[in-house]
Amino acid sequence: MKQEDEILKQKYDKLAKNMLFYYLTMIVGRTTENSIFRKKAISVLGLTNNSVILDAACGTGYNFKMIERYLGKKGKLVGIDISSESLRLAKALAHKNNWNNIELLNMSITDYKPKILYDAVLCTYAKEIIPNFKSVIDMTYNLLKPNGIFSMIGMKLSSQIPYKHMNFFLKRVYKIWGVDVSRDIIGYVKSKFKINFYEEHFFGFYYILGGTKLP
Ligand SMILES: C[S@@+](CC[C@H](N)C(=O)[O-])C[C@H]1O[C@@H](n2cnc3c(N)ncnc32)[C@H](O)[C@@H]1O
Repeated sequence: MKQEDEILKQKYDKLAKNMLFYYLTMIVGRTTENSIFRKKAISVLGLTNNSVILDAACGTGYNFKMIERYLGKKGKLVGIDISSESLRLAKALAHKNNWNNIELLNMSITDYKPKILYDAVLCTYAKEIIPNFKSVIDMTYNLLKPNGIFSMIGMKLSSQIPYKHMNFFLKRVYKIWGVDVSRDIIGYVKSKFKINFYEEHFFGFYYILGGTKLP
């Protein structure tokens, strides 16, 4: 494993072992499994009950509940994450809820070479963390069927008044999670996808971006 991936793996293994802290930050950041931001990002994917969807860097599985509402038993959800501890929690969540159509893979998303194409790819709160974000976006493009849909939740600094005065604080919070807000993720996504959806949320600190694969 590359050294930068190993550092992130250890960071997220440690965070997942301290679930109380993890969950408290989720409550403050409104990113729990009932989050309206997750609901919105998943709603733009156009899922049906037999969709095949990839949750890239799925973490502890906080998107699963809402995805499962669309899929029913016919669809399939593949979750990939580099942190084995996060995936252990995701697996327990799937087991507890009898979500038998979920496959979990412990690897770097950039090493994933599947034999299938996906109807939809979701990536929440991760593009600012995974070191080689461009290769994740390239890969998302390659993994999607023609006209397949991509959706993400990104993190950024706020340009809204008065919340932009909290940017100094947010920078410190983002540092704990290894978030790099200086990346031009939207620009790179736009070069590959037809953007269908863009909304800013959480006082301008999050954005939801959805698009269709360009031929
Ligand atoms: C802030 S968490 C977000 C988790 C999840 N998507 C969510 O919305 O709750 C970022 C996740 O990215 C994962 N990650 C970091 N680098 C990765 C990589 N190269 N491949 C797969 N997952 C990675 C971390 O282990 C962590 O679970």
